[in-house]
Amino acid sequence: MIKDSFGRVHDYLRISLTDNCNFRCFYCMPEEEYEFSPPAKLMQAKEIIHLARIFVEQGVRKIRLTGGEPMVRKDAAEIISALGSLPVELVISTNGTRIPEMLPVLKRANVKTINISLDTLKPEKFMLITRRDVFHQIRNNIELLLANNISVKINMVLMKDLNDNEILDFIAWTKHTPIQVRFIEFMPFKGNHWTSNKVFSLEEILSVIEKEYTVLTANEGPHDTGKSFRVPGHKGSFAVISTMTAPFCNTCNRMRLTADGKLKNCLFSNEETDLLSALRNNEDIVPLIRASIWSKKKELGGQFTTSFEQLDAEAINNRSMISIGG
Ligand code: 5AD
Ligand code: SF4
Repeated sequence: MIKDSFGRVHDYLRISLTDNCNFRCFYCMPEEEYEFSPPAKLMQAKEIIHLARIFVEQGVRKIRLTGGEPMVRKDAAEIISALGSLPVELVISTNGTRIPEMLPVLKRANVKTINISLDTLKPEKFMLITRRDVFHQIRNNIELLLANNISVKINMVLMKDLNDNEILDFIAWTKHTPIQVRFIEFMPFKGNHWTSNKVFSLEEILSVIEKEYTVLTANEGPHDTGKSFRVPGHKGSFAVISTMTAPFCNTCNRMRLTADGKLKNCLFSNEETDLLSALRNNEDIVPLIRASIWSKKKELGGQFTTSFEQLDAEAINNRSMISIGG
């Protein structure tokens, strides 16, 4: 078991397969021209599988693949298949562009849930956010997953004056469609134009929805990052990832492995442990994992608090979201 100094057991590993992406979402990528890591700096498929096995031996029960966009990696299918044979729940966060090609592999690897980033239901706004004109393709791919009995969660990053006027459209979508919409409070990362007045909070989200619908709280898993809700009569449900106004750090069980093989003990940690170099030098990885998690801070990487009104995003010492993997 991997534990931190606050007694939190860490059994969930998020692996970023690449910092490359075929979208250009401004809230995820730094504003200056971002250079994707050269493949040689990234973990090779064999190294990912080797490291994942070590984590599983130490008690990891759930693995999420992230990016950038995990499915743009040429050997994504090989990695997904190999990880699918480990005794873990395997899930993926993706922008959804490569679902049709990957579907057979996803099914074979027993992937039961996929999180898809979709911040708007308006094709023009989709283009504005991602700089790619593929809204309809993503919508079709979501249907394809549902038709194949793969659960879909929609990650919708809420930003004031950009898409906060679409909350009710997303809720309406859940009426006949068995998806879970996850409204995510906008978080600060290096170079992502975050300002505190763009955060649309849990409280604000609920007040918008409650004006039109009856909202019931739904059961939550012990480590859920979101507060879960449902509207009676709707096939789908929704959740709010309230990282900024009501973080869920006290039940955190997550560890992150960046595509270049660094272990981050928190999304907002400024320290990293270089597992890939250690692996390449034949060093014992387990003590490094344990030390990293033991030094995990209590909340938000120790870098800010929920009184974020005065927070300067550039003062946070962290990577950009695209190079962490979410
Ligand atoms: N704030 C909140 N969520 C973000 N994501 C990416 N950048 C941010 C941000 N600045 C989310 C995206 C993606 C997931 C991996 O992280 O919705 O689905
Ligand atoms: Fe790519 Fe997702 Fe980042 Fe958008 S949010 S640039 S889809 S990794």
